[in-house]
Amino acid sequence: MQPTEQNREQWGSKLGFILAAAGSAVGLGNIWAFPYVVGSNGGAAFIVVYLLCVAIIGLPVLLAEILLGRTAQRNPVGTFKALSNSKGWHVVGGMGVVAGFVILSFYAVVAGWALGYIFEAIRGVFFDFQTPQDAINHFNSLTGDPVWILGMLLFFMILTMVIVVSGVQKGIEKGSKIMMPLLFILLIGVMIRGVTLEGSSAGLSFLFNPDWSKISGTTVLVALGQAFFTLSLGMGAMMTYGSYMSKKDNVVTSTFQIVTIDTSIALIAGTAIFTAVFAIGLNPSEGVGLIFHTLPIVFSKMTGGYIIAVVFFTLLFIAALTSAISLMEVVTAYFVDEKKWKRKKAVYLLGSLAILAGVPSALSFNWLSEFLIFGMNFFDLMFYITFNIMLPLGGFLIAIFVAWVWGLDKAVVELKKGAEAIFENTPWQISLWKIFLKYFSSVLIFLVLLNSLGLLDPLINLFF
Ligand code: PHE
Repeated sequence: MQPTEQNREQWGSKLGFILAAAGSAVGLGNIWAFPYVVGSNGGAAFIVVYLLCVAIIGLPVLLAEILLGRTAQRNPVGTFKALSNSKGWHVVGGMGVVAGFVILSFYAVVAGWALGYIFEAIRGVFFDFQTPQDAINHFNSLTGDPVWILGMLLFFMILTMVIVVSGVQKGIEKGSKIMMPLLFILLIGVMIRGVTLEGSSAGLSFLFNPDWSKISGTTVLVALGQAFFTLSLGMGAMMTYGSYMSKKDNVVTSTFQIVTIDTSIALIAGTAIFTAVFAIGLNPSEGVGLIFHTLPIVFSKMTGGYIIAVVFFTLLFIAALTSAISLMEVVTAYFVDEKKWKRKKAVYLLGSLAILAGVPSALSFNWLSEFLIFGMNFFDLMFYITFNIMLPLGGFLIAIFVAWVWGLDKAVVELKKGAEAIFENTPWQISLWKIFLKYFSSVLIFLVLLNSLGLLDPLINLFF
């Protein structure tokens, strides 16, 4: 028997859904990746392109994903089953479930570093660093230790499982309601410290004074990928969260709110980090190591740095945790809805498997660092396959599905439920969504995908 709407859990409140979905969106992507991507791609001009990508692609696809889930009230596989006659589309849902599992397995490795760095910050080890190289050496010695890295992975995954096993309302919603406001307050605190540092204005102009010469085709594609990843698109996380929404709730407003929260947090995190990095006189384009290599030095050099360091890694950990639970929930919902497993069994069994799957990713930083597949270590390979291929492919197919297969007419009927006021007062918003989804989103995502597969340049050369 299919679970009915009556016995399937729903969010306890509208706010609960917004915070849980914002929790999924706000993660390592905002606080770890966004600042370093901005730093390595020239600052303000990149941010402008990124904001355009969020508006043109992120928003329409997010709306489509949440709407699909809310319409079918099912996990991603069940959603495609319910809304299409052809079996082929289930595969898109299935790919989302697989992506959720794989991403969880290595996302938890980096999240484990954030957790471990809370303890480093508490122990005050950053104050022993004399040069930036000391911070790098410390990071390498921690991640080079299989016991530390596996221990943190395990610790982080247990916390994720404990929340997800408690259910949609009592676990995910309750956790998000506590963690998201806390995250916001902590981040505001770090930002205030950043902007009040002497010399912080250089960081602000780096972030907010665009130098258009820095924009190239690659920047646009990086911005597009980042917009996509940060909104948790393309693998059914938002579909799954949308499936616990009531038909009385407004999908349009919720989508705007989630995008606003996610974008603001990325900008605030960027401000917090670059004001401090510039004030201390370090390099903004340090890349992936910005958070774990550069920031510890920055903290050790500023007044109040001890507290700010503890606060910063705590908020990074919280951001990662609320995203990890959404990844775990996609996998859990599939087994609960489709295979009729008990939530407890799904969470503990699949969570344990995700830990096992995370082991080679964790060991990529030590024992397996020389073990390369296509020139990448295991961690980088998993990262590449999911973020560069599975997510854009999933997003592309979701946009195509809603715009061309399920059809915008049916979509609009569903969208109207709970959003009658918008249809009455600002119907142009809906028309704009239809146009964007139908013509822009899929085409642009397709370009990102081609680029990830290394096919874009040859094609451009062929035609131009
Ligand atoms: N949006 C999350 C982040 O910014 C990452 C994520 C992607 C989470 C896909 C869930 C699904 O870190």
